[in-house]
Amino acid sequence: IGIYIAALVIGYLFGSIPFGLILTRLAGTQDLRSIGSGNIGATNVLRTGRKGLAAATLLLDALKGTAAVILAAYLAAGTDAIAANAAMLAALGAFVGHLFPVWLKFKGGKGVAVYIGVLIGLFWPAAIVFCLMWLATAFTSRYSSLSALVASFVTPIFLWWFGHAALASLFAVLTLLLFWMHRENIKRLQAGTESKIGQKK
Ligand code: G3P
Repeated sequence: IGIYIAALVIGYLFGSIPFGLILTRLAGTQDLRSIGSGNIGATNVLRTGRKGLAAATLLLDALKGTAAVILAAYLAAGTDAIAANAAMLAALGAFVGHLFPVWLKFKGGKGVAVYIGVLIGLFWPAAIVFCLMWLATAFTSRYSSLSALVASFVTPIFLWWFGHAALASLFAVLTLLLFWMHRENIKRLQAGTESKIGQKK
């Protein structure tokens, strides 16, 4: 049980590092929370006009999730089942840590990059499916939020279909949280006022 608590805590600590805020502060851009959607993720970093910074935010926010999963599985290395459970708990911890970081008064991001990152660590083919769905939706709609909603809706179904029932349950929970974090985006999509990728407002 100790390793499971450790996995959750490791996940949370990795997940709660707000790379978008850190990178934009280091680069001296406008405060992310005062522009665009006010979110701390890569999509909003792009609204500063700094494509490289946005790409770095996406990469680091994803990799912190991957790192947490790999580290927890490594530390738990006893039986395969224990390592797999620890990896899933680290993924949950990292996702929750990104959404609700104690360092930012629990006001974090919306979880898209870290969702991809933990998928890479747990079952990378599903991460490819996620990215393909994201890209297909983004190319047709130009909405980052809609692309994430579509891709994360498909992911648990894909996992279940490939016989990964435990992972499918975990990602169903992460998808519900992701939808909840996008509730303002969903309202804007319905109202036709959501900004498209790269738009400044
Ligand atoms: O990664 C979050 C994305 O889906 C929406 O971001 O800044 O447009 O709310 P944003």
